[in-house]
Amino acid sequence: MHSPIPTLMWQGDVDGQLVLLDQTQLPGALVFLECTNADEVWIAIQELQVRGAPAIGIAAAYGVCLGAQAALDTEIEAMQSRVLQVCDYLATSRPTAVNLFWALERMKQVAQRAGSSRPRQRASELLAEARAIHSEDAQMCAAIGQHGAELFSDLPKGSGILTHCNAGALATGGEGTALAVLFELARRGQQPKVWVDETRPLLQGARLTTWELMQREIDCTLICDNMAAQVMQAGAVQVVITGADRIAANGDSANKIGTYSLAVLAHAHGIPFYIAAPTSTFDPAIATGNEIPIEHRSGREIVQGFGKAIAPEDVPVYNPAFDVTPASLIAGIITERGVISQPTTERIANLL
Ligand code: MRU
Repeated sequence: MHSPIPTLMWQGDVDGQLVLLDQTQLPGALVFLECTNADEVWIAIQELQVRGAPAIGIAAAYGVCLGAQAALDTEIEAMQSRVLQVCDYLATSRPTAVNLFWALERMKQVAQRAGSSRPRQRASELLAEARAIHSEDAQMCAAIGQHGAELFSDLPKGSGILTHCNAGALATGGEGTALAVLFELARRGQQPKVWVDETRPLLQGARLTTWELMQREIDCTLICDNMAAQVMQAGAVQVVITGADRIAANGDSANKIGTYSLAVLAHAHGIPFYIAAPTSTFDPAIATGNEIPIEHRSGREIVQGFGKAIAPEDVPVYNPAFDVTPASLIAGIITERGVISQPTTERIANLL
């Protein structure tokens, strides 16, 4: 029996701490990181020690609780302004995953609501909200798994499913999004054969997704990103499923760099390309993918990703962390509320 992966854990009560599984150390070592203030959470998000859109949102919500600890023995007004300030600060950690802003908005609303006038009581309400964000995400993952498995119930046993980056338990408060679908298919006996893109430059597929799949004894094969076309051409891929970091009102979806090229390849080979994401990943305020802020990261991640120089140190580097797949290339978005086939602004608005 597979034991759950402890991606994020809150230990204690309002004066407790956040424990993160440091994903930069995987798969080599299981290292746990104890965060006792909002700065440490900001750094953990920025440095990808915790990563994946839903997990970033959950970590930030707990980060707000840590930030609030500094105002436990003040007045309620001081507590409120402290929380709003910490929310604004944590919002600067990474720009693309909308789950971060969605979770911080929920925390701000709790901080500002009328009611208790005691800072400790307000801190306990904030912790309850962070815990709710965490457990709701686990439930959304489970529902995504069910809807996805229903959608693919007719796939022949042993079908090839290709995924990119890591949209599993490490990226969420539950079993994941794209990987939750694979886990549920495996539980239903469909024996998916999973192709895992290594996901340059930081190798979330190679380091994290294979690790999760192998723990669950799911058949998986690692490929370099530039092998996907060849594997598709060989007829070994029946479906592509990835996660998302932000989905615009019209269905254009930002996900880890390389997702767009996979969608183009899938289209060229007549293979359906699906996104799996909770409704917290939708950003109805953004009409199209053109408006999604794309994070650009340090060139060092490419030139010296894991310590060894693989290019001249001073070479100019272009390193966007995400790309946007147009809705026209997406066969469907699997959410906790059901599947939006061939997403359009109207279909998405109806579901939301
Ligand atoms: O830079 P990362 O590792 O945070 O990027 C993560 C992804 O792109 C995931 O596919 C996405 O967040 C969905 S996680 C369920």
